[in-house]
Amino acid sequence: MNVNRNILTLDEFTLTQLRQFPTATGELSRLLRDVALAAKRVNVEVNKAGLVDILGDAGTINVQGEDVKKLDIFANNQFMGVLKHGISCAGIGSEEMDDFVVFDDEVSNQSKYVVLFDPLDGSGNIDVNVSIGTIFSVYKRISELGKPCTKEDFLQPGNKQVAAGYVVYGSSTMFVYATRRGVNGFTLDPSIGEFSLSHPNIKCPESGKFYSVNHGNFFQYDESIRKYIDGCQRKNKENGGPYTQRYIGSMVADVHRNLIKGGIFMYPATTDKPKGKLRLLYEANPFAFIVEVAGGLATNGKQRILDIQPTELHQRTALFIGSRLMMEELETFTGTKIK
Ligand code: AHG
Ligand code: MN
Ligand code: MN
Repeated sequence: MNVNRNILTLDEFTLTQLRQFPTATGELSRLLRDVALAAKRVNVEVNKAGLVDILGDAGTINVQGEDVKKLDIFANNQFMGVLKHGISCAGIGSEEMDDFVVFDDEVSNQSKYVVLFDPLDGSGNIDVNVSIGTIFSVYKRISELGKPCTKEDFLQPGNKQVAAGYVVYGSSTMFVYATRRGVNGFTLDPSIGEFSLSHPNIKCPESGKFYSVNHGNFFQYDESIRKYIDGCQRKNKENGGPYTQRYIGSMVADVHRNLIKGGIFMYPATTDKPKGKLRLLYEANPFAFIVEVAGGLATNGKQRILDIQPTELHQRTALFIGSRLMMEELETFTGTKIK
């Protein structure tokens, strides 16, 4: 039998990483395995889209005043379930829940990590067969082990993340995660039901062709942003413009493309949403961590995303994220030098 031992599964990969740290407990590997298991369950439901009555509005409005789709709730329950029953997570924060959830049981109180997640990102795209995703962020708790975790564990700045990742449910299903050591991508092999290492050591190209922004909001953006976007559409020898505009409305898909191919993604503040739309703790921070580890940059236009001190679970932020040289070009318009 011809067995290809070159392709590592997610579990095999995290184990090889673990072996390089003799003192590591393996809790993070287990946590990633738990998240991947939930992702596989969500993937099954996503693939049934249109066949069963799991799609469409659940008829409720989430804590941020947005319509909740049924798959949002299903995904939320899957991720919460695996993390609660696993042994690595002391509590969670989710887009779909009003407040942080402290698991507070004997095993969870001994767990090192807390996790923040957007169970289903781009849910407006569910009914029209466009890529959607899951985003997650992992912190080591700062509260005392053996006790229930606390709000302070969740409200750490993004630069304290120990890992972050996302899943894209797209033309194939991918699980991408970053630790400080690197970013690695795994594609779900449906024949064995395992995520297999397909994109080792992902680096974000220094520059690229794509700019991703909601043009419909153009006249609501600050003048400096409008000027930058205007520049993206012009021939420009220095920056290789004009760029190509790509915006699907699922942040996971938009940032994933730009991470792999090079590009910039923007969700600026608008006059309707002066604080921005995207959520700091489970959208901007995990992606900022991943993209920075891959060599890119992420800011809110004034400050590095990862240095923002969070004050609440559902805090919003403006977001600019992507290839380093494109971000630096943007900074010449916003007048802020971040890094
Ligand atoms: P969610 O489905 O989790 O609420 O997130 C949707 C977000 C993000 O994925 C996307 O980039 C953005 O909303 C799109 O917003 P606009 O439709 O305003 O462009
Ligand atoms: Mn989202
Ligand atoms: Mn969501």
